[in-house]
Amino acid sequence: MPELSKRTEAFTDSVIRRMTRVSLKYGAVNLSQGFPDFEPPKEILDRLSEVSNEDYHQYSITWGSQNFREALAVKQSRLMGRKIDPNGEIVVTCGSTEAMMAAMLTVTNPGDKVIVFSPFYENYGADAILSGAEPIYVPLYPPEFEFSRDELEKAFKQKPKALILCNPSNPCGKVFSYEELRLIAELAEKYDTFVITDEVYEHIVYKPNKHIYFASLPGMWERTVSCSSLSKTYSITGWRLGYIIAPPYIAAAAKKVHDFLTVGAAAPLQEAAVTGLKFSDGYYEQLLDKYTAKRDLFLKGLEDLNINYTVPQGAYYILIDISEFGFDSDLEFCETLARDVGVGAVPGSSFFRENVNHLIRLHFAKRDDTLFEALNRLSGLRKKIPPRKASRFYK
Ligand SMILES: Cc1ncc(COP(=O)(O)O)c(C=O)c1O
Repeated sequence: MPELSKRTEAFTDSVIRRMTRVSLKYGAVNLSQGFPDFEPPKEILDRLSEVSNEDYHQYSITWGSQNFREALAVKQSRLMGRKIDPNGEIVVTCGSTEAMMAAMLTVTNPGDKVIVFSPFYENYGADAILSGAEPIYVPLYPPEFEFSRDELEKAFKQKPKALILCNPSNPCGKVFSYEELRLIAELAEKYDTFVITDEVYEHIVYKPNKHIYFASLPGMWERTVSCSSLSKTYSITGWRLGYIIAPPYIAAAAKKVHDFLTVGAAAPLQEAAVTGLKFSDGYYEQLLDKYTAKRDLFLKGLEDLNINYTVPQGAYYILIDISEFGFDSDLEFCETLARDVGVGAVPGSSFFRENVNHLIRLHFAKRDDTLFEALNRLSGLRKKIPPRKASRFYK
């Protein structure tokens, strides 16, 4: 038989999504893949039932239904501080996953370099390989996950075509400050680079941190491809609704890429989601209160169990230091954790360019009773997996 493509050999299936399958296999509380186990807002679900009897069953306009784009333009114009044109500056995609892939294919040529901060959301590695781009990794240093200006500039000197900015960051929960974003902007301008943002956690930013849209920085609109989605904001990860917002010359090119990748996002789901896009500010305040309470509950539980963790400024992930257990492989630790303790986690090595095997990622986008059950199981952690080394303090 002929050989399969080389590009499929260059990456594995997603470790995050693999850990969901491992959790299912062992009946573990799945705190690996980041999705909620609570219901989306009732108003959206009610609208979904109505939509099934309305005329939304055929292809919508490929770059998004008119209603969806108009509602999204109103919402994001308010948040991003500029008037966004629903016709020329929005491409509705199948989740931010497709938005990011389409953005990469829109701005890079095979062989181009792309700056990625490490740790990074694992999709970016595969996005780079699929589009033929070569990542240049710039480390974020714990505990605050700061980057060095010199290291970043050194990466820019290699003439990258784009920088990928995940803000708030998965997995480390970093929310980039205004000063950090200004620095990235200064370098993007100096070295004439695009910035592709992934802002799916834009509404999950814990006080006193604030989300700043990179595209809203002075001079950055023209070179920014803003990607985001409805998955996390409305607890509808299975609906696969995301989008690109970009100036018309980028959006026009992205529309073509998107058209041939997927044609379009599901028409009835776009229509039902319009209800969410029209929610008032109160919805987003409540969402943040809910996640703040979950973060506090979960971190307090871990503190009580004397487990070292990172405190996220945004998103809903924490990194846990497992060095005391003395495993050479964090993947093996996660499998043992799922099997013997009954909690699903993601090995930290799938997010880091550096050789890191002493961290795992858990998330807390779950009902409180699920989080209590996970904490209850974790209380048996050291009995079921006896520590072998002194812990490296990671908080
Ligand atoms: C940073 C980041 N980007 C994108 C996604 C996927 O988003 P979507 O469901 O919109 O494809 C996730 C999901 O966990 C994520 O954490």
